[in-house]
Amino acid sequence: MKGVILAGGDGTRLHPLTLVTNKHLLPVYNKPIIYYAIEKLVEAGIDRIMLVTSPRQVEHFVNLLGSGQNFISKNNGKQIQIVYGIQNGPSGIAEGLWIAKDYIGNDNCVLYLGDNILEDDIGEHIANFKEGATVFLKAVKDPHRFGVAAVNATGHVLKIEEKPKSPKSNLAVTGVYIYDNSVFRKMVGQPVSERGEYEITYINNKYIEEGKLKSVLLKKAWFDAGTPDSLIEAGNFMKNKFLES
Ligand code: TTP
Repeated sequence: MKGVILAGGDGTRLHPLTLVTNKHLLPVYNKPIIYYAIEKLVEAGIDRIMLVTSPRQVEHFVNLLGSGQNFISKNNGKQIQIVYGIQNGPSGIAEGLWIAKDYIGNDNCVLYLGDNILEDDIGEHIANFKEGATVFLKAVKDPHRFGVAAVNATGHVLKIEEKPKSPKSNLAVTGVYIYDNSVFRKMVGQPVSERGEYEITYINNKYIEEGKLKSVLLKKAWFDAGTPDSLIEAGNFMKNKFLES
């Protein structure tokens, strides 16, 4: 399985912090946000990663991360390999993944939105993945900010709605997704949404229609470090964790 980390976007909710710096390079306690994403994938046994970002900012990531020399594979004790993909503008998460199509080849992939920080280890779900898609859900107080899962009595996902005004549950779809290779076929002919993006929710709903979307409830902390409040919350959390370790 290969990994794709998206680190494009405009980060408008973090202006003026993100006027000259990419959101994923901002600090959460003692590391840039992007480190948490890479370390989470490495912990899960992924050692081939494409990082997708904007043409304007790719050189900052290359300067920081190089070919991945600061991250050691769990599988072979050698450095992981990071390569780079370019997304010309923030046209959506599904478009960001599409850029990695040739890199993924016939493999399965884990898509990771680079501003997500999670505490749960997802390694078991990656190791046991066979087909379809897996999404990770988290109960939140402000679901209208996220993709929200409507679930039945047994917790099965019936539909995902992108940033709904009246959320059908408090279960946010977090920014980590495991996909089989059919994900790229599902994007062919995909329309842009009302807000002008190629939505990943459209793809996830295709898996639901096929009865092939599995959901996992995250048990530990999850942050989407895209707002000033969540950025500082994540930083304080990581500081406490660091001091306790
Ligand atoms: P968002 O937080 O939805 O968008 P953003 O980063 O542009 O921020 P804002 O809404 O404040 O303007 O993006 C979620 C994650 O996905 C984030 O890690 C950036 C990434 N992303 C891309 O890489 N490309 C894209 O086209 C989009 C929409 C997001």
